[in-house]
Amino acid sequence: MEPKLVAVPEAIPEKVYTSERVGISKATHDNHLTLWKGYANKTNEIRKALHEAEVDPSKANQIYSQMRALKVNYAFAYGGYINHNVYFATMGGQGGPATGEVGKLIESAYGSFDHWAADWKSTGMAGRGWVFLGYDHAEKRVHTYIGDAQDTFPVWDHTLLLAMDVYEHAYYLDFHTARLKYIEAYMQVIDWEAVNARLRG
Ligand SMILES: [Fe+2]
Repeated sequence: MEPKLVAVPEAIPEKVYTSERVGISKATHDNHLTLWKGYANKTNEIRKALHEAEVDPSKANQIYSQMRALKVNYAFAYGGYINHNVYFATMGGQGGPATGEVGKLIESAYGSFDHWAADWKSTGMAGRGWVFLGYDHAEKRVHTYIGDAQDTFPVWDHTLLLAMDVYEHAYYLDFHTARLKYIEAYMQVIDWEAVNARLRG
């Protein structure tokens, strides 16, 4: 069976461009689209390579082998594709305090939205690549997590609700090294309705 391929939209979703009102520019998003497509293209390339790969346990090796190269890089490529899907799907809203069921989950886990917001900003300054808000199906609560790269620090049995890109390409053009200003701008354009839709599944 031929591998299923993934694709990103031809253009960034129109609502995302409303972020220009807080200083996250169209140019940043348009450049970001190229990177997003890169993750999708490499996901497809590796899916095809895995389809054609020789699956022989005697040749697989943890130091170097074709299987190691394909599997490790697959997690990076597909992880990058998924992370950016969520980043762009949940941007372009009015920001502010979280609404709906997600708002209630944040308040019960963090005491108040303001406390969660301080945690989110701090996590964003402490991470190297991503900040994630995940719904933990085991504990039935939300947590914020750092992702240093596309394929690091995920936690199982969670639904990814919100993903904030803190790689420099997400803000350097608009904010130079002032990452906190970018994070504060980003928080004003979170689409909480889209976040709630992800929780509902
Ligand atoms: Fe990115």
